Amino acid sequence: MTETLGFCQEMRPESCGFILFGATGDLAARKIIPALFGLCEKKLTPRNFYAVLVSRTPLDRGALESRLWDTVLKAGFTPAPEVFSSFLERLEYIQADYESDAFYRRLADRLTALDAKSGVKKKRLFYLATPPAAFEPITSKLKTSGLLSDPTDCTCWSRVIIEKPYGSSLESAASLDAGLKLAAPEAQVYRIDHFTGKETVQNVMALRSANAVFDGTWNNRFVDHVQITVFEELGLEGRAAFFERMGLARDMMSHILQLAAITAMDLPSTFRDTDFKTEKRRFFESIRPLTREEVRRQTVRGQYAGYRSEPGVAPGSAEETFLAFKFLVDNDRWRGVPFYVRAGKKTGSKKTRIDVVYKKPDHGIFTHIDIGYPNVFSFGIQPEERVSFSLISKHPGPKLCFTPRSMGLDYRPEGHEAAGYPTDYERLLIEAMSGDQTLFLSSYEIGFMWQFLAPLLEAWSAAPATEPLHAYADGTPGPAAADELIKKDGRSWIQL
Ligand code: BG6
Repeated sequence: MTETLGFCQEMRPESCGFILFGATGDLAARKIIPALFGLCEKKLTPRNFYAVLVSRTPLDRGALESRLWDTVLKAGFTPAPEVFSSFLERLEYIQADYESDAFYRRLADRLTALDAKSGVKKKRLFYLATPPAAFEPITSKLKTSGLLSDPTDCTCWSRVIIEKPYGSSLESAASLDAGLKLAAPEAQVYRIDHFTGKETVQNVMALRSANAVFDGTWNNRFVDHVQITVFEELGLEGRAAFFERMGLARDMMSHILQLAAITAMDLPSTFRDTDFKTEKRRFFESIRPLTREEVRRQTVRGQYAGYRSEPGVAPGSAEETFLAFKFLVDNDRWRGVPFYVRAGKKTGSKKTRIDVVYKKPDHGIFTHIDIGYPNVFSFGIQPEERVSFSLISKHPGPKLCFTPRSMGLDYRPEGHEAAGYPTDYERLLIEAMSGDQTLFLSSYEIGFMWQFLAPLLEAWSAAPATEPLHAYADGTPGPAAADELIKKDGRSWIQL
């Protein structure tokens, strides 16, 4: 087992009830129910805990249980019968009519009864896995029925988890946020971006804060540029209706910005959520927005060749499935260091990584020969969970020759220890049950993302002729124009 040093901060989820709206939907099946089951299987749920699944679909107990069984199998679990039974014992299902006051009264009564039965002291975590249009109506009904109270004079609490898409434009996101704020203040709202829950994403911050080598060189004196890659092997996976409205930029920008922030924000003085969010905000405030002209020069949209033949996709669809862009950060640490991003579906094998590329040497013999970029810090986020550092050393032998080498650290230990780690969604549920908002997005961050996206979306829709959609073959790393984007700055994408 890997040893830890003295400092171990542990999240302690509080005993609570978990209420999942939209329980028969796609998000619940793919992510939330598997995460709930995973927490039970790993014995990470709080001591006193129950879950209420809520949706409009009529389901009797038998249908619910077989549906849950299929869901956890599909998510890759092979549940031991006793673990699955104890999972079921903590669950119940209520058919909902989200518009009816009577439903919320029934829910309130049921939660009171379950609190008493399970020894939970009016602590409730509501997860709205519904379309965003339902966030405001549901939270407002929860509030008027007294289910969203969060008094300061009692240990009870109510929290609401919501999940992207947070609107589809700057305006729709602002109105969604305003509606939500009427029912629940910021301290009660937990906005998920599941990338922040990934082990390896958190490891970037851990490495940066514990190892002075990072902070000392993590700036424009040493770093030439940064690359962020979010490639997926899969295409639409039956999500044409969603993707045809959103496209890749809207779908993935939050994840991209979160990766950029943990890589480049100044380190907070503590890991308390308020300090963390303050520094993250300062970083976002320093990102220079793209002008219309920069959108033309610094962004590339692509679409994989088979996209228009996917079921549910319009024959002439202009939605992008690939995006590459460059942005700059106007602060003392990063001024002049370009950040290059590429993200896409059907771009070969799955690869999420961050590469911090150090400057070339500019002294001695290296003023006359170009040895490329000798030093790159690479953070493999998924599926390889690896940190590596490339450098150039002397090639063994009688001559003075140079040879590229790489040092690597596999992040996850093998064997049973790794099996007990929470996944991204499991971790985020634990954090929300513990009342820690560090890994969740603030209202400001959502607003920032849409502000950043707005000129891109405007330029693409206003002038499709000057903002072409480049085709790329399925399974390749995007269109040639993405290579040109970085090449014209005299650089190239890191080979994956
Ligand atoms: C989701 C996007 O937020 O993230 C999906 O909606 C994408 O389109 C997914 O596939 C990627 O997440 P992960 O954890 O599989 O890399």
